[in-house]
Amino acid sequence: MSERLAGKVALVTGAAQGIGKAIAERLAADGATVIISDVNTDGGKAAAEAIGGKAVAVGADVSDPEAVTALFEEIAKHGGIDILVNNASIVPFIAWDDVDLAHWQKIISVNLTGTFLVTRAATDQMRANGKAGRVISISSNTFFAGTPNMAAYVAAKGGVIGLTRALATELGQHNITVNAVTPGLIESDGVKDSPHNNAFEFVEMLQAVKGKGQPAHIADVVAFLASDDARWITGQTLNVDAGMVRH
Ligand SMILES: NC(=O)c1ccc[n+]([C@@H]2O[C@H](COP(=O)([O-])OP(=O)(O)OC[C@H]3O[C@@H](n4cnc5c(N)ncnc54)[C@H](O)[C@@H]3O)[C@@H](O)[C@H]2O)c1
Repeated sequence: MSERLAGKVALVTGAAQGIGKAIAERLAADGATVIISDVNTDGGKAAAEAIGGKAVAVGADVSDPEAVTALFEEIAKHGGIDILVNNASIVPFIAWDDVDLAHWQKIISVNLTGTFLVTRAATDQMRANGKAGRVISISSNTFFAGTPNMAAYVAAKGGVIGLTRALATELGQHNITVNAVTPGLIESDGVKDSPHNNAFEFVEMLQAVKGKGQPAHIADVVAFLASDDARWITGQTLNVDAGMVRH
């Protein structure tokens, strides 16, 4: 750990639990003031209290434009955003035959439109304050693997990678870098409570490095991308899955 993010304000969406919570912990350990945002308001508060220090909880549903506007009004009070981590997401397990329009729209609205809404507001605030910014979006290696039972999710995560590539080009002139991270299967709170929990043995067989993916494996990479060490990296998708897929 270091103080390499001292003086920075970071927002992590969906940080009440799982990978988002681990990212918030890691960015705080590196010295950032961390805004923990989640639709689960009580969980977000508990995560912020557990981190202590400069962590602040602000409840918000990333798919609700008004909630996102209110979230950034709060962040402005802390000096404005430097680092955005788009992590909030619904992780479904649903066979294609059960995917209807309502499911499709729900997943796209949270996992892709939510990423758009928060990134829209964050990059506006970064530029208004003349800040060199970082946008890091959590996609998924399911986009490369074509994982079953997640069609709408995989489509949304591919959209996040597309957005990352396009925004890097437009925002580079403002010293804002835009990157994505694609985790493999990670033993998060959400996964532990879902049928994905049964996939670890199969996934480990496909990994080059053996073991069970943990939230900290992703948090450490996000902290690097958020730091000055990653200033020359933009528009990239960093796959973090112990070598399961190559792209
Ligand atoms: N766990 C994995 O195996 C894995 C693999 C690849 C990618 N990912 C991605 O990593 C990220 C975190 O996944 P996780 O496994 O920790 O999930 P999780 O289900 O444990 O946590 C997700 C968090 O997001 C919050 N959230 C859901 N909808 C929201 C909304 N509309 N607005 C704000 N917050 C909302 C939830 O309340 C929860 O706290 C997600 O983007 C997920 O797609 C996870």
